[in-house]
Amino acid sequence: MGVSVLDVRALKGTRFAMLTAYDFPTAQALDEAGLPILLVGDTLGIFVSGHPTTLPVTMDVMVHHCQAVSRGARNALVVGDLPFGAYQASLEDGMRNAIRLVKEGGVGAVKMEGPWFTLAERLTASGVPVMGHLGLTPQSFHQLGGNKVQARTEPAVERLLDDAQRLEAAGAFAVVLEGVPSEAGRRVTESLGVPTIGIGAGPHCDGQVLVTPEMLGLSTGPRPRFAKTYASLREEVIHAARAFADEVAAGAYPDPEHSYDWALRS
Ligand code: KIV
Repeated sequence: MGVSVLDVRALKGTRFAMLTAYDFPTAQALDEAGLPILLVGDTLGIFVSGHPTTLPVTMDVMVHHCQAVSRGARNALVVGDLPFGAYQASLEDGMRNAIRLVKEGGVGAVKMEGPWFTLAERLTASGVPVMGHLGLTPQSFHQLGGNKVQARTEPAVERLLDDAQRLEAAGAFAVVLEGVPSEAGRRVTESLGVPTIGIGAGPHCDGQVLVTPEMLGLSTGPRPRFAKTYASLREEVIHAARAFADEVAAGAYPDPEHSYDWALRS
């Protein structure tokens, strides 16, 4: 068995990284890089499917991508996001869909956005580990008036603290904190016995998560300020595609090394 939720709990007080993964080869590479957790985030709706928000992502799409990532991750814990509409209407929906991500998608835990304490409690009691997600919750895009930084006032931080503690009490093994001031990230992190994993939540969180296409410099469009890039893969892809097309146009590809001859050798 690879990384378990117990191992993740034990990362409290350390510094660790999580990345999103949406497909088999990326999962293989991130797993080989030693990342302990791969998140099949519903951001795949934006970064794989080209939607403007995560709202259109369906359970079928999530199951498909969770399967691919689970096949690629030999060691990392794979966490699958419950998409918008999969748990908001009823407890039964949430239970059924979370179990589907485990049974069909092969994930070792699910993530849900917002203070769904009863669902978190029921799932963990049923053997489905839960990662919480508080602060900026992009599935509430319309309610929040866009992807805006949250918990910027004392009462809002108090509410965030309360929600985080109640999620932990309900059994969550980790809590993602998105888009909150660093001070809010620090206070929540210090108040929990389970790891916080920040994205735009400052340096005090136990873990940090980035969206892989942004981290690799593969995506286009405006990037939030926390979205540091560690590679320029988009330029690499364009360069490689042009090199291939140029060689084809010049008759340089395929050359004998990349062609079959009459003799029976592969
Ligand atoms: O869907 C996702 O990728 C996420 C991360 C941004 C934490 O929830």
